[in-house]
Amino acid sequence: MASEEIRFFLPGPTYVTEEVRRAMTGPMIGHRSAVFKALYTSITPRLQQVTRTTGDVMLATSSATLVMESAILSTVRTEVLNLVCGAFSERWHAISQMVGRQADRVSVPWGEAVDPELVRSALRRKRYEAVTLAHNETSTGVINPLREIAEVVHEESDALVLVDAVSSLAGAPVEVDSWGLDVVLASSQKALAVPPGLTVFTLSERAAEQVAGVDNRGFYTDLLRYRDKHRAAGTITTPALPIFYALDRQLERIVDEGMEARWERHRELQRLTARWAEANGFEYASAENARSPTISCLTPPAGVASPDLVQALAKQGFTIGGGYGEWKPTTLRIGHMGEVREQDLEGLFGAIEEILASS
Ligand SMILES: Cc1ncc(COP(=O)(O)O)c(C=O)c1O
Repeated sequence: MASEEIRFFLPGPTYVTEEVRRAMTGPMIGHRSAVFKALYTSITPRLQQVTRTTGDVMLATSSATLVMESAILSTVRTEVLNLVCGAFSERWHAISQMVGRQADRVSVPWGEAVDPELVRSALRRKRYEAVTLAHNETSTGVINPLREIAEVVHEESDALVLVDAVSSLAGAPVEVDSWGLDVVLASSQKALAVPPGLTVFTLSERAAEQVAGVDNRGFYTDLLRYRDKHRAAGTITTPALPIFYALDRQLERIVDEGMEARWERHRELQRLTARWAEANGFEYASAENARSPTISCLTPPAGVASPDLVQALAKQGFTIGGGYGEWKPTTLRIGHMGEVREQDLEGLFGAIEEILASS
């Protein structure tokens, strides 16, 4: 665990420890060199541990959104179903439409999780090549029942399951193999606690077969191109080398902590936040059965404007997230993921209490 005190609680990017930041100063090396291949092949098994797969785990030099777009371009010829419960799951729908696919949506109100039975009904009405969802909806602090949704998709169809695990991977259970997830993607700057610039993603064998039958997948957006280069321990283009060094160092920390322990630490941070919120007049904006272990989206007590509170905290050196999109004026978001520990959150809560007491 970090010995540094953390005062940075954005829902991404998250706090990066000093040793991981320092790792980025490693030398430039050729990305087709033996040294890079050794670095790459040492990273792969640890990414498999994080994503719980024995299959391929790739790295894209991009933020997650490019891999979302790539996943649609690579796996869907025409019909895709987008499960929408907030701004980031909505992004899957926007991308699907913008690249000209026939995109249907199943939506639930902001603050709620997607009910697997809604997915079942949609799949009984029509055949889809893929179903998209955001495992953890960062705009609302909602975690979706991914395992159950994937189960329903497999029971009802042969559609691929495309999962945005951007703000859940390494902070909540994501079981690629045992839950049958076809593409899982997560950018480096959330619960992985690495600087932004890389996206980790998986591609199942059956997804790879489906990709092979899709035309016009682009160059930077072709998931099979990544897969083939990956199998030769390489990347499709010049990679963001400093972030590879950071990831390499941070994966040591993650594996040392252990996935189960890391998930439990995040769940405990959420419980701590819930106890503090209740005692201090803050309410969860997300439904009780769907609270995210990595982000708490809260409504402040009556008379407290969340943008003012965010600003007052900034003056004291604490960073939290404001509300997102349509919830901007009414909520705030505390990212308790990555390397955050209980004592860090307690420091934040103390600062909030002081601000409220003096206002
Ligand atoms: C759930 C979720 N999906 C997608 C994204 C977009 O990720 P990126 O900015 O890495 O493209 C974010 C960013 O916050 C997110 O939280």
